Amino acid sequence: MKLNTILSRLWDCYSKENLSVRKIHDLFTSRGETVVNDHIAFRTIDTESLNIDVIAKPFTENGYVEKGEYHFKDKHLYARHFEHAGAGNYPRIFISQLKLEECSSELSGVLKDGSNYNAGINLPVDELILSGRLFKSISYKVYLDLLAESEYAAWFYVFGFRANHFTISVNSLKHTPSIKEVNDLLKEQGFRLNVSGGEIKGSESDLLQQSSTVADIVPVQFEEGVYNIPCCYYEFAQRFPASDGKLYSGFIAASADRIFESTNYRKE
Ligand code: NI
Repeated sequence: MKLNTILSRLWDCYSKENLSVRKIHDLFTSRGETVVNDHIAFRTIDTESLNIDVIAKPFTENGYVEKGEYHFKDKHLYARHFEHAGAGNYPRIFISQLKLEECSSELSGVLKDGSNYNAGINLPVDELILSGRLFKSISYKVYLDLLAESEYAAWFYVFGFRANHFTISVNSLKHTPSIKEVNDLLKEQGFRLNVSGGEIKGSESDLLQQSSTVADIVPVQFEEGVYNIPCCYYEFAQRFPASDGKLYSGFIAASADRIFESTNYRKE
């Protein structure tokens, strides 16, 4: 599949399912902005058939190269980021994976249960990353059990393969060229920000500042009925020049660690 098709299908699914994403995108375009994506993030598990190397293939086969790697000890996550090597304004791709050997056998048993995988598992990987939930059926009780151990695992169980978030490049905004101005605008418009670790994650000396909304709450059909749970969020990133004068292009693990919490469970 062509890269532009993958990116536009990811956006379509993400912006249709998360109402505030569409509203925020429209807010910026209505202010005359051209919205540029800093990065798109995926979540997966570290099994042989679904690990970062596999999920990255649709991108590495389309001109992306591996750049940085990140460890999130407390959340039992490992991540890498990829950048497009050619010309063109392609977003970075950030892929994290849950390290199942560090999780309980109950949790890894649920996520590794191939007998409950749906037909999406047999799709070529460029279709797989667009195919959403990995499981034939999902239980709310199992969701809550996973949630008690790992919010990441619970989110992946329900939502699977899709963009977990897109990220607006604050550097590309004309009217609100700082993360604080973006946050103030969003709050003024009634959007809720993730305040874990403060509204702004990172400092100018880290060369990257990030903020994000809290994930939209969406109705999900479980075996036991329909429950409203957090889906996806929108992120904002402002990059600063490194000593070589070029904008820093990596990620800051301590900041990303808190950004993960944008999908934390909450009742509305
Ligand atoms: Ni991100």
